[in-house]
Amino acid sequence: DWTAEHIIDELIADVQAQVGDGRVLLAISGGVDSSTLGLLLARAVGERLTAVFIDHGLLRLGEREQVEAALRPLGVNLITVDARAEFMAALGGVSDPEQKRKIIGREFIRAFEREARTHGPFDFLAQGTLYPDVIESAGGEGAANIKSHHNVGGLPDDLAFKLVEPFRTLFKDEVREIARLLGLPDAVRMRHPFPGPGLAIRCLGAISEEKLDILRRVDDIFISGLREFGLYDGCSQALAILTPIQSVGVMGDERTYSFTAALRAVTTDDFMTAEWARLPYDFLATMSNRIVNQVHEINRVVYDITGKPPATIEWE
Ligand code: XMP
Repeated sequence: DWTAEHIIDELIADVQAQVGDGRVLLAISGGVDSSTLGLLLARAVGERLTAVFIDHGLLRLGEREQVEAALRPLGVNLITVDARAEFMAALGGVSDPEQKRKIIGREFIRAFEREARTHGPFDFLAQGTLYPDVIESAGGEGAANIKSHHNVGGLPDDLAFKLVEPFRTLFKDEVREIARLLGLPDAVRMRHPFPGPGLAIRCLGAISEEKLDILRRVDDIFISGLREFGLYDGCSQALAILTPIQSVGVMGDERTYSFTAALRAVTTDDFMTAEWARLPYDFLATMSNRIVNQVHEINRVVYDITGKPPATIEWE
């Protein structure tokens, strides 16, 4: 019967049998699947694992440090790559959402390839593919392909590694349980999903360092607030959006003309449909006050009360 301890031993034995004395490369996204896989592989092959985390500059406040702090002490040979400047340059002036995704996907592959060559050669590429992903990709064209997810990308032939996918038969809940036993901190283990293109698709229109910085501070206030008020785990996903709308406000004796931030939180089982989370008014009031007081570039906060469909969870 299924116990997580038992399954961990089995997964480790399987990985060791498959990999032998080969070297394994893993891309860490900061999410629960790749982080847990990093921990498992560190146990299975130790230093023969190289985990690469690419900081594309579209992460949330403190995210890179959080990933480093979660994985390095547990023995993961983790390389973090500062690719912020190249992503920003490639995204300059681009406002179309799908175009942003394509560019981010392309830059991601480019940066990952470079790291693979620098630190290689590798024999294996590890991926945190779950059972539902296996089913979904076997299904071909589906709702999952409506937006081009950057996680699916091709590598050139000379980097055609053999795949290691220890979680192919597992569901998310099982991975979370394995993560707990492997010592992944709860803040990472119970984290909401975060899209590959990151804050770029929550900063509407063409992005800039300045806008990302505003969005990062708004997002941090909202997400920290949800945790502080015990509301985080009740939401499936929560996010802040920086809109290009500027409107008139008043601050002391002065009129302002500043940006509008939107907050969105949803509950869902499968992310294909979702309901907006009925967050308490008092909580929303506190968030709104904190945001306008602490982020001077924002003078108006709105809460998204649209379900999916007709809206998507992300705004781009
Ligand atoms: P939507 O906005 O389509 O999002 O309702 C459904 C789920 O997918 C995530 N999402 C993405 N994840 N790359 C990703 O890795 C993407 O381009 C992307 N777009 C949306 C979204 O955060 C939500 O969990």
